[in-house]
Amino acid sequence: MTILGIETSCDETGAAVLSTSNNRLTLLANSLSSSIALHSTTGGIIPEVAAREQLRYIIPVIREALKKGLSYDLGSPKPPPLDAIAVTYGPGLIGSLLVGVETAKTLSLVWNKELIPINHLYGHIYANWLQHHTIYLPAIALVISGGHTDLVYLRQHNDITVIGGTRDDAAGEAFDKIGRLLNLPYPAGPAISHLAEKGNTHAFDLPRPMIRSHDFDFSFSGLKTAVLNLVKKNKWEFHDPKFVSNNKQILYDLCASVQQAIIDVVVIKTLKAAKKYRVRSILLGGGVAANKKLKEDLQMAVKENLQKTDLFIPPKEFCTDNGAMIAAAAVFTPFRSSWKSLSVDPELYY
Ligand code: KG4
Ligand code: ZN
Repeated sequence: MTILGIETSCDETGAAVLSTSNNRLTLLANSLSSSIALHSTTGGIIPEVAAREQLRYIIPVIREALKKGLSYDLGSPKPPPLDAIAVTYGPGLIGSLLVGVETAKTLSLVWNKELIPINHLYGHIYANWLQHHTIYLPAIALVISGGHTDLVYLRQHNDITVIGGTRDDAAGEAFDKIGRLLNLPYPAGPAISHLAEKGNTHAFDLPRPMIRSHDFDFSFSGLKTAVLNLVKKNKWEFHDPKFVSNNKQILYDLCASVQQAIIDVVVIKTLKAAKKYRVRSILLGGGVAANKKLKEDLQMAVKENLQKTDLFIPPKEFCTDNGAMIAAAAVFTPFRSSWKSLSVDPELYY
């Protein structure tokens, strides 16, 4: 089976070509265009701007993926040698989602190909199968991104239960909002992670919200408020370049302390879930899964506490949004749609 995967839920335009045989996935092409630099100038994503950028890049990105993966020229009179087109239909920004879904529907109609609707969150989970052919279930997945911090129990493929989620801000959102307080460019996760390398994780005593709660939920808005209060109390002027250049260590230490507070909570809860559900695998997915310290701490914690459980973490390029993860999820779903009936669902959950 050969699948074209299309991802346009937010600010990344992704298209990938993936072939499978016996559930072994081979990625033939993975093209991506990001409008993130543009959103950096406004300190966050303006949905209308993101949608317009999706419209600009969707055709070039699909053209590139088909050329690289199948040596196929878009515009050729014959359809490409594909079996299906998979597309993210939610959750995400409505305008961005519409660009991918309407394009996929059009291609499905003109090329007469199967249309596979994919939940973006499943894409983050199935990104793990792009690198590993053998992942034993049951598994616990931690989907940790700009919009989600979810613990998900995969009993089998297509038998998925959410066991916990964030009650307010997602982990990525916390990184991004705290980054704004520190005058770091959007999205702030990568910047905080980078600055934290020079900092002391114990420099500031920040809260670990809900770390000991008896459920698998998360809450990160209190952490953001704690950082805001700390900045105000100490009159730190992170918007003043002179202050920053004279107080670099404060910034490094604050970044290290914030990052550690988020990591401590998600590591403890992921381990607790893996123990309770006696899983064979732990899967990480989502943009924040690109965080180096999170990967190190989780690897260490699993090694020390769960010797019989394997931990899977996608490579960085498959943690953040991409078309390959959408094609990968399509391999495992029985759902099909028609170009006539598929519509976007910005609020889609699991
Ligand atoms: O999965 P993703 O690309 O988009 C969503 O579906 O949300 O995740 C984006 C999020 C942003 O909040 C960004 O700050 C965060 O992932 N992120 C990171 C890192 N790289 C991206 N957070 C912490 N450390 C990183 N290295
Ligand atoms: Zn995502």
